[in-house]
Amino acid sequence: MNYAVAVDGPAGSGKSTIAKLIAKDMGLVYIDTGAMYRTVGLYCIKNGINTKNSEDVKKVIKNIDMQIKLSEGNQKIFLSGEDVTDEIRSAKAGLAASDVGAIGEVRKKLVRMQQKMAEGTSVIMDGRDIGTNVLPNALVKIFLVASVEVRAERRCGELEKLGKPFDFDTIKKQLAERDKNDSTRKLNPLRKAGDAVEVDTTFLNIDEVKEKVEKIIKAKIRGGKDENNSR
Ligand code: DC
Repeated sequence: MNYAVAVDGPAGSGKSTIAKLIAKDMGLVYIDTGAMYRTVGLYCIKNGINTKNSEDVKKVIKNIDMQIKLSEGNQKIFLSGEDVTDEIRSAKAGLAASDVGAIGEVRKKLVRMQQKMAEGTSVIMDGRDIGTNVLPNALVKIFLVASVEVRAERRCGELEKLGKPFDFDTIKKQLAERDKNDSTRKLNPLRKAGDAVEVDTTFLNIDEVKEKVEKIIKAKIRGGKDENNSR
């Protein structure tokens, strides 16, 4: 049977790291929805469009040519034919993504794409509104949380590994700003679905989180929901 796993949570809670590992382990297609909002944000940055001005963003939505290549544990994203998978990871693109994610027309277009991508295959999809809005009938819903300090530390660690400059306080401030933006917006805010399982990753390492989440997924699969109810 095909089934869907929804992984939601705030910025830096480890959603994509965990979802990628589990996708590889369990043979699921990995879909990173944040990357799609980041690509819209990057398009705006590249074209001099103020992401805080929803009217200006709305005017260009239909011009955005976004292509997504999916596989187990991996996703590549292209903007006008150019591979922007790495470029969208910048903090600037993250903040722009958070802005455009509050615009109804952007959400409508991206949510439709996400639901289409999840059709006919087993997926693990991460984002903010997957369990509440994109895949409300997902077999498994996980809500990852972690303290803002730990999330900022993890981001600094990633940047250090990449040899990129970073400032802990700036990163912490940016994460808090995005959390506020994402959880207070009117449309499909960051929210734990009523039937989601919350996993606090503050004091866990990646392997421990992966093990915990895989256990939850396997228990649900064993619980045996029928195919028609699995999305
Ligand atoms: O997961 P991420 O940090 O790459 O997401 C970047 C931004 O995109 C996030 O701050 C809010 C927005 N987003 C959203 O509104 N809905 C989603 N399902 C995923 C991301």
